[in-house]
Amino acid sequence: MILIRPRLKNSSYPICVGCSLKDLGKGIQKFIFHLNRTPNKALLVTHPSIKNLYGSLIMKSLTHSKIKSSFAFFPEGEEYKNLKTVQLLYKKCIEAKLDRTSCIVALGGGVIGDTAGFVAATYLRGIPLIHVPTTLLAMVDSSIGGKVGVDLAEAKNSIGAFYQPALVWSDLETLKTLPKAELKNGMAEVIKYGVIKDPKLFEQLEKRISKNGQLTFNFSSIVARCAKIKADVISQDEKETKGLREILNFGHTLGHAIETETGYSAYKHGEAISIGMCAAGFIAEKFRMWSASENLRLSRILKSAGLPIRLKKTLPLKNLLTLLFRDKKVLSEDLRFVLPTQIGKVVVKKIPSALALQGIQSIEP
Ligand code: NAD
Ligand code: GLY
Repeated sequence: MILIRPRLKNSSYPICVGCSLKDLGKGIQKFIFHLNRTPNKALLVTHPSIKNLYGSLIMKSLTHSKIKSSFAFFPEGEEYKNLKTVQLLYKKCIEAKLDRTSCIVALGGGVIGDTAGFVAATYLRGIPLIHVPTTLLAMVDSSIGGKVGVDLAEAKNSIGAFYQPALVWSDLETLKTLPKAELKNGMAEVIKYGVIKDPKLFEQLEKRISKNGQLTFNFSSIVARCAKIKADVISQDEKETKGLREILNFGHTLGHAIETETGYSAYKHGEAISIGMCAAGFIAEKFRMWSASENLRLSRILKSAGLPIRLKKTLPLKNLLTLLFRDKKVLSEDLRFVLPTQIGKVVVKKIPSALALQGIQSIEP
């Protein structure tokens, strides 16, 4: 098992990579001592299909550690990451009689983690949260860093909080049941880490992603490497107030707009940010911030990983532009994009709307 700890001012927590679901109960007993007590009750928030795969293993582990557990479900899909689901989950918290000595266990991908995390952050003004990510995307990104929240129909991730988990427990064995399309989805965030911070990772990915998109990796080292990058970034800028954490949003400005405009159902998150990264790469080339050849490396690797580099069909330019202005990086009504200057380095830059429009046009089908 690889143990990573972000260095945060008021809260730090273990990110365990390569541990086993069957040891979750023991892990909670061992690692959550900083809460002064081990939670005695857990609400496991998940999807029915994930419960069928891993529910009994986790339940057994928690029961063995004397943590009384029950399940709360909601349907799969980004379109359920909303306030209606949050309300449903609050009711489940009440029914399960959770109190401040209880915890919420988010068992699943980023949709489960973000939504259950928001419930944990707000129920009784906050009860401990344990992330048990089961998608590649959630292991490398969404379970780390404390961003929890849900979407509005009008804007993605617009309701939320910074609420750090007490523990992140990543069992890589769960990736074996993950559909291939979801692995590709997670690879978008992995590639993102290469572009924003880790040129060696990018090169390694270039070598390893074969032409037919076979993702044959030692996921243990990939997950640990990405988790470490994210932990380092949030250690320096926990609440995105110092300008550094924004780099994690490379590709997300337009990616989020695409997800919102298409009702959160036409593109997976990784697919949308893959297209968003291509648009950002194009804008950076226009600004002469990086070269055409580096931009080509970016689109080539995304394509090889089986990710889209263009929209499936044209979306209204005006709507996308309106949505760009709802991005959380907008300051004093200025659009700000994360743009690459070389593989492994990005900056945040104010850009004129006309250039953003060209960026959107560059990813049209
Ligand atoms: P997801 O949570 O929708 O999971 C994808 C699918 O995989 C679901 O249908 C799920 O049931 C299934 N699944 C999960 N684990 C499985 C397993 N082991 N075996 C078989 N099936 C499994 O999608 P995601 O890509 O994990 O997460 C995307 C979400 O994460 C988006 O809402 C995005 O905004 C959010 N996100 C948040 C952060 C953050 O910092 N909070 C960062 C990145 C992304
Ligand atoms: N996924 C962006 C962040 O955690 O800041």
